Amino acid sequence: MKTVDLRSDTVTLPPPEMRRAIAEAELGDDVFGGDPTVNRLEAMAAKLMGKEASVLTTSGTQSNLTAMLSHCQRGDEVIVGDESHILHFEAGGAFALGGLGLRTVPNDEQGRLDLDAVRRAIRSQDVHFPPTGLICVENTQNHCGGSVVGEEHMAAVRALADEHGLPVHLDGARLFNAAIALGLPASQLARYADSVSFSLCKGLACPIGSVVCGSHEFIRRARRYRKMLGGGMRQAGIIAAAGVYALENMIDRLAEDHENARALAEGLSSIPGVVLAPPPQSNLVFVTAQGWDLGKLMLRLGGQGILCLDEGGRIRMVTHYGIDRDDVEHAAAVTRSLVAAGA
Ligand SMILES: Cc1ncc(COP(=O)(O)O)c(C=O)c1O
Repeated sequence: MKTVDLRSDTVTLPPPEMRRAIAEAELGDDVFGGDPTVNRLEAMAAKLMGKEASVLTTSGTQSNLTAMLSHCQRGDEVIVGDESHILHFEAGGAFALGGLGLRTVPNDEQGRLDLDAVRRAIRSQDVHFPPTGLICVENTQNHCGGSVVGEEHMAAVRALADEHGLPVHLDGARLFNAAIALGLPASQLARYADSVSFSLCKGLACPIGSVVCGSHEFIRRARRYRKMLGGGMRQAGIIAAAGVYALENMIDRLAEDHENARALAEGLSSIPGVVLAPPPQSNLVFVTAQGWDLGKLMLRLGGQGILCLDEGGRIRMVTHYGIDRDDVEHAAAVTRSLVAAGA
């Protein structure tokens, strides 16, 4: 039976050339600053994001927490979208480990923050209030359907933050997907944020890793917090070599994932009762199926080799390196025959 694993772009396996780059990586002790491959990756990442410096971390979750800790003091409040990854899927690290409050504002279906709500959420200086320390934006916005947040909104968040002297962190786990969708360099989106994190282990197909970028001063603080969070890694060139390969070879091909997501969405939405929730803007496809218990449908799909996830009462299917047009057409055809057969 053919298996099409659409659960996440984190299931990607490294291409053979990436494995070779890992095997041949020049190594040193990165905690001493002595791993040349990590240093190379960090310089490349900073340049791509238009920032002064960057630091390699173990994961997107560690990147976001490292960034929040580096911007804020214990007791501060961080403004995040109510559909943000930081709020829902990062194990409450900001509260539990950082002593930070997460103050939520609505995300609209495009993944944008409600700017009036952000304005209201920013605390005035008053002894009763927790100080506002940071505003976080996510792009692409995972839970809003992989939605692509445009440059205009990024600029508006920046302007509002500047009015109040606040820093902005961009959770750009899939920022290259946003950049490819908009036809812009990633730095054009990152320029509106003081810090930006992006994932190596999602669409870029690395086995591990994420990077946080920002000013020299910010990254100096971030290195200390990364160490505190257990992210000081020794011969991390093993990881960074994959990252270097990915930044050189895996960004442009994300456009294929977006095309495959559109093809998958087209196939699925032509099935009576299947509704896109919402239409895809990048590589994430969300659907509901009228009259179906989605858990049951997913189980049946799994039984036919089509692997997907239940996220927020929707079925999530993600296109990525290793999934081609035949795979998405097969996934849509299997879904069609299961839905036609009935619950
Ligand atoms: C928007 C966003 N931020 C952060 C993360 C966390 O990344 P990781 O799974 O590497 O911790 C994810 C993971 O899916 C994500 O989608």
